[in-house]
Amino acid sequence: NTRRPLVAGNWKMNGDKSLVEKVQSHLAQAELSNMDWVICPPAPYLGLFDAGTKLGVQNVSQFDSGAHTGEVSVSMLKEFGCGYAIVGHSERREDNFESDDVVAQKVAKVLDAGLTPILCVGEPEEVREAGTLFDYIANQLDAVLAEVGIAAFTNIVLAYEPIWAIGTGKTASPEQAQEVHAFIRGHLAKQDSNIAAGTVILYGGSVKGSNAKELFSQADVDGGLIGGASLNPEDFLSICLAAN
Ligand code: G3H
Repeated sequence: NTRRPLVAGNWKMNGDKSLVEKVQSHLAQAELSNMDWVICPPAPYLGLFDAGTKLGVQNVSQFDSGAHTGEVSVSMLKEFGCGYAIVGHSERREDNFESDDVVAQKVAKVLDAGLTPILCVGEPEEVREAGTLFDYIANQLDAVLAEVGIAAFTNIVLAYEPIWAIGTGKTASPEQAQEVHAFIRGHLAKQDSNIAAGTVILYGGSVKGSNAKELFSQADVDGGLIGGASLNPEDFLSICLAAN
C-alpha cells in the first residue's frame, strides 16, 4: 500500500515545559524520512514548540468563536501551526459527554479549516464481550460519514482505540488490532474502495517501544496513537522508528 505511517503522541493532561524541550531534541536527531509524527500536547504548550515540529491538539470546539467558555477554536489552533486535531477520543466521549453528533460536527469543523482530524473510535470491554463490537464501531463511523461524506475521508486519519487497552498496559494483540482495522477499512470500502485503501488507520492502546513493531507490521495498521509512552522521549522515538 502507499499509506504513509503516522505516529501521534497524545500527552493528555500530562507533561510540562521541560518535556517540550526533551521531546523536540530527541526527535530532531532521528532519521525519520519514511513516516510522519505529530505531538499533541495540552493546548497551553502549543506555542512553545519550534516551528518545524508537527503539532496537533487534543480537542477543539465545534463552534467558530463566541460565548463558549473554556473552548479553543480551529482558527486559534491554525495560528499556532497546528496541523492535526484529535476528535472523539474515548476520554472526551466519556468525561465530557461528547455524542456521536458532536464528534461529527467537530470533524466537519476541523476539515473546513484545512486541518486533519484524527478521529477516534473504539469499544468498551463489555461491548466486545457481548459480541457487538463491529456494530458499535460501524455506528461511530456512520455518524461521521453522515455528516461529512466518504470523500472527506481522504483528509481524515482514523484511530482505533479499544477502551480496555487504553492506559491499562493490556495491549490488543496484533491479530485483534488487524481484525478491527480490516473491518473499518471494509466498512469505508462499501462506499468507496479507493478512499478506503488510502485511509490511514492508527492503533492506540498501550503501545510501547517493545510492541510497536509487531502491531505496525499488520496489513491494515498504519501507525499509532500513543498516550503514556509519548511522555517518555526515548520510548516515543523508538515507536516512531518502528513505523519508519
Ligand atoms: O490517545 C492515546 C490513547 O488513548 C492510548 O493511551 O498509550 O496510554 O494506552 P495509552
